[in-house]
Amino acid sequence: MDVVGKIVIVTGAAGGLGSATARVFAGAGAKLALLDFNLDGAEELAAELSDGARAYRVDITDNEHVKSVLAQVKTDFGAIHICCNIAGGGTAAAKTYGSKGPHPAEDFAKTVNLNIVGTFNMMSLVAEQMAQNEPLTDSGERGVIINTASIAAYEGQMGQLSYTAGKAGIVGMTITATRDLSSLGIRVNTMVPGIMGTKPMLSVPDNVKEHLLKTVEFPKRFGQPEEIGRLALFMAESEYLNGECIRLDGGLRATAR
Ligand SMILES: NC(=O)c1ccc[n+]([C@@H]2O[C@H](COP(=O)([O-])OP(=O)(O)OC[C@H]3O[C@@H](n4cnc5c(N)ncnc54)[C@H](O)[C@@H]3O)[C@@H](O)[C@H]2O)c1
Repeated sequence: MDVVGKIVIVTGAAGGLGSATARVFAGAGAKLALLDFNLDGAEELAAELSDGARAYRVDITDNEHVKSVLAQVKTDFGAIHICCNIAGGGTAAAKTYGSKGPHPAEDFAKTVNLNIVGTFNMMSLVAEQMAQNEPLTDSGERGVIINTASIAAYEGQMGQLSYTAGKAGIVGMTITATRDLSSLGIRVNTMVPGIMGTKPMLSVPDNVKEHLLKTVEFPKRFGQPEEIGRLALFMAESEYLNGECIRLDGGLRATAR
């Protein structure tokens, strides 16, 4: 899809990868609807991007709330063409069973809810909006959905049980959603980041950083948030890329701890 002038939603837009992705799409000529739980952060970015960018407060785990925010975006912009689902995250590390006892059930449910239910809400409800678009290309493309998992989906480290489950759920949903939405001309792909240089990662102690970097093959650095933005842009623009999960991790394969 040619993104110039297209309406792009980014969730998690106040965060490191979301804001970087929004900047990349804005730089490529798209119009941005910036969704985040953190409205102040999304508004700050909207002011920076200007050119009609708007901020919306959303809780992606709340189906009714997502529905009403998407309806508002549709009213404000007239259509939704691309949706980058980047909001997500984890809770404190906990082993399946360890010295502190069994993994707290509440934390597990919270992380699965944020990542799986949140992504489900966004995919299903944004598809409802995209289905109303007139086909944009000769092949009938109406929309593109881009999700965000993590390499933990494949190689969850010790203590990452809930995050692994949440992100593996997103990887698993990718091909099913692709099949469900293919007759509508809506593509679905998922980004699988390794260690990206956003605040949560940059704030870990130096010795932990050094340890993490040992597991990266090349280049020996954290990924830059703009690199995720460029991957999202590539996924949006490349019509033949569908139902795919792409790692962006410098060849990293996570160790057990
Ligand atoms: N940074 C990394 O190294 C890395 C690696 C792999 C995967 N990821 C994934 O990439 C995504 C973004 O990571 P980041 O580093 O930018 O994190 P971040 O914490 O900077 O940003 C996450 C954003 O999501 C928003 N958010 C959280 N819960 C929400 C909810 N219920 N509804 C709406 N918005 C909500 C937060 O307000 C925040 O602005 C996450 O899904 C994360 O799991 C990050």
